[in-house]
Amino acid sequence: MENFIFQNPTKLVFGKGMIAKLSRLIPADRRVMITFGGGSVRRNGVYDEVCKALAGRDTVEFWGIEPNPSIETLRKAIALGKEKRVDFLLAVGGGSVIDGTKLISAGLLYDGDAWDLVLKGSETHAVPFGTVLTIPATGSEMNNGAVISRHETKEKYPFYSNYPRFSVLDPEKTFTLPERQVACGIADTFVHVMEQYMTVPGVSRVMDRWAEGILQTLVEIAPKIRANRQDYDLMADFMLSATMGLNGFVALGVPQDWATHMIGHELTALHGLTHGATLAIVLPGTLRVLREQKGAKLLQYGERVWGITAGSREERIDCAIARTEEFFRSLGLSTRLPEEGIGAGTIAEVERRFNERGVHFGEAGNVDGAMARRILEACM
Ligand code: NZQ
Ligand code: ZN
Repeated sequence: MENFIFQNPTKLVFGKGMIAKLSRLIPADRRVMITFGGGSVRRNGVYDEVCKALAGRDTVEFWGIEPNPSIETLRKAIALGKEKRVDFLLAVGGGSVIDGTKLISAGLLYDGDAWDLVLKGSETHAVPFGTVLTIPATGSEMNNGAVISRHETKEKYPFYSNYPRFSVLDPEKTFTLPERQVACGIADTFVHVMEQYMTVPGVSRVMDRWAEGILQTLVEIAPKIRANRQDYDLMADFMLSATMGLNGFVALGVPQDWATHMIGHELTALHGLTHGATLAIVLPGTLRVLREQKGAKLLQYGERVWGITAGSREERIDCAIARTEEFFRSLGLSTRLPEEGIGAGTIAEVERRFNERGVHFGEAGNVDGAMARRILEACM
């Protein structure tokens, strides 16, 4: 096992009716800016419950943080927050609202343009914030990461700031999610775990089994959720899987990959394709191209997650990759680029961008522009 330091300060407040706890979670003397997405919270009761919990408190609302939050929108929120002198933020929504709020929290204490902070990659001098999560997927409710887009230049980059002080997770509030958002959330959670697991075996038995436990849970609940998106216990397991999948926990002492995510972000930046949908296409391609490097772990994954024990080494690896792709298809997602109208032009552009930035992703640091091309070609 590799050395590590782990501390996750986010207080998780989980379950039915827990939004009512907000008044005790936010210090009474704070002026709070509440941030929202496009309005789904008005249709599922979340907005009303938040207003009720914070009745009589000094609050300002900012609406309109879009999926894949953009710097163009976030600049407006920062200007409003500065004008109103807010000193606490409450993000109410999905990963996009929470990610956007992380940049707002740092932007409020920064004099220049907040895009500078995104290019710098991190800033922890920031206003404190909490969240009310409405879609299980990103883990943003319990990590310090964010991903910010710039429409003008079709760019999308990770940014790191502080962890939320608290996050309220009420599985009932996910009942209004459309089927496609649920599918993308399951795919995102699955791939988060794979990015921290599908490297080499034998580094940590306990971390491998935590990761496999989350993957097995997703495989078990996905068809049941597809049949009934309003089952409390299923959505509770999904929600907790998503949080545990990217709160730093399954990464303790083990190598990580993240190449699939970095390639996926380019597909979103260039085509607007939803985050989880990009991963369902790219992950099988990554596994096909890096099957030798990841072979020993693919065998372990195939056996423990999919019960693949028969056949030669190569057959078992083929089968593990095929089962992964079938899983994404069973969610109703595309797994090949042409299904989303993406072709050779985009592959060349992703290669060009990776080369221009001189990046090397993956546990072996070998996913550069040329390798990204091979991976995307394997998704055709
Ligand atoms: O905007 P509203 O009207 O609220 O609608 C949203 C949005 O259209 C809707 N929605 C959310 N909760 C709902 C609901 N609709 C009905 N009922 C509900 N309960 O769902 C749509 C998608 O929301 P969004 O927040 O964009 O989804 P998600 O949580 O998947 O976030 C995606 C963003 O997070 C980034 C992605 O790149 C993408 O920008 N990620 C953030 C990460 C992190 N911070 O650690 C890691 C991830 O890998 C990911 O990159
Ligand atoms: Zn993701």
